[in-house]
Parts: sequence; structure tokens; C-alpha cells
Amino acid sequence: MNKNDCIIRLERTEDFREVEFLVRESFWNVYRPGCSEHYVIHALRDDPAFVKELDFVMEKDGRLIGQNMFKQTVINADDGRDVPVLTMGPIGITPELKRKGYGKRLLDHSLEQAAALGYGAVLFEGNIGFYGKSGFDYARRFGIRYHDLPEGADDSFFLCRELIPGYLDGVTGVYQTPRGYYVDDAEVEEFDKAFPYKEKLRLPGQIF
Ligand SMILES: CC(C)(COP(=O)(O)OP(=O)(O)OC[C@H]1O[C@@H](n2cnc3c(N)ncnc32)[C@H](O)[C@@H]1OP(=O)(O)O)[C@@H](O)C(=O)NCCC(=O)NCCS
Repeated sequence: MNKNDCIIRLERTEDFREVEFLVRESFWNVYRPGCSEHYVIHALRDDPAFVKELDFVMEKDGRLIGQNMFKQTVINADDGRDVPVLTMGPIGITPELKRKGYGKRLLDHSLEQAAALGYGAVLFEGNIGFYGKSGFDYARRFGIRYHDLPEGADDSFFLCRELIPGYLDGVTGVYQTPRGYYVDDAEVEEFDKAFPYKEKLRLPGQIF
């Protein structure tokens, strides 16, 4: 990847539809037949937890090829505190440009900007194969548990990276996914009708 062949900038109102289209293409049939992420970002932009200063798009040759966004949430610490942290995503790269380094570049830039704004840590659900290359580790190693996960259940999807070194020192507790990520399937179906038809397929590797 040529480092100068694209720019990363904040999303603008006039990008919204193109970004939703991009996210739909990027996630379609990856984790489930079809996807809900294009509706999730549509809904999250109006959520009070949404961080406008960290709402990024990647532009190449006049079109959008990637996006990433952050929300504020908390760790309910075992000592009673609510420790403010960020959560991230969805992050997506247009299908024909996946695995060429654009995702990592967008991720690393986003994290640098989040650190520059003074945020202490980022936690979310993801694949260590991709995020591990940008400094993420399993959240359990920081003493943070995923909400509603039974004792002993596989938590290897739950990742964490400190943006301020030592930010989570002395913190153990339960991370909360912002409510805005939970969307109603019927609303997703309705929203999806405004996009061109795409076939939903049951494919190996899907998790829902
Ligand atoms: C996940 C995604 C954002 C990664 O972006 P990308 O541009 O394809 O990834 P990159 O080329 O920057 O990959 C960087 C490194 O991570 C690895 N990687 C990328 N995706 C991976 C995956 N799904 N599993 C394991 N490793 C992965 C790459 O092999 C690469 O390693 P290398 O530098 O040693 O070659 C992109 O593939 C995508 O949009 N996927 C569909 C939507 C999605 O799953 N989003 C994430 C939700 S948590």
C-alpha cells in the first residue's frame, strides 16, 4: 500500500449515506447472513455516547473506502467507581481493498487521535489476529470482564488497549457495551430496504 494514496478525515453529514453503503458492503455475510452494522452506525450517530471528534473515514481517489467510529462507555469497577473508557467500531474497509494494509492504517490513526484527546483505554469485541497488531490484548489480562458472560465462557473476543499507559492499573471490573449497539432486527430489515438488493448467505465462519 502506498501511504500517500489515501487520506483519513472526519466524517461529514454529506458522507452519511455513502458510509452506510460502504459499511453494508464491508460487513455483508461476514458475521451473519446479511448484516446490521450499516443500521448500527446510522443509529449511533445520534447517540449521546458517540464521539464526533473520532468519527473517521478513509478516502481514496475521491471515494470512501473505510470508516471507523468510537463511543464513550464505562467499566463498572469492583471498587464502585465507573471508569470512563472508549469502545470502537464498527470499522470497515471496502471489500475489494481488504487485506492491503488500509484497515491497520485507519485503526492506528484513530487510536492516535483518541490518545491525543486524552482517552485512557479502548475496549471492544474483535479478532486478536487483526487488533493484536495494533497493540490490543485480551481484556482479561487487564482484569476486565465482559458483561453478561458466564464464568468460564470463552472471552477471547474481548480486547483492550490502554491509550494512557497504566490507565487500568488497579482497576478490575465489568465492561458495558453502550446500549446503542443493540438494534432491533425488524428495524434493520426496514432500513435495509432502502439499499440495493443483496443476497443473504449462510457461510462458514459466521458467528450469528
Ligand atoms: C477487519 C478489517 C477492518 C481489516 O482491515 P484490512 O484492511 O482488511 O486489514 P489490513 O490489511 O490492514 O490487516 C492488517 C493485519 O491484520 C491482519 N488481519 C486483517 N484482518 C484479519 C482478520 N479478520 N483475521 C486475522 N488477521 C487479520 C492482516 O493479515 C494484516 O497482517 P499483516 O500485516 O501481518 O499482513 C477489514 O478486513 C474489514 O472491513 N472486514 C469486514 C468487517 C469487519 O470484520 N470489521 C471488524 C469488526 S470487529
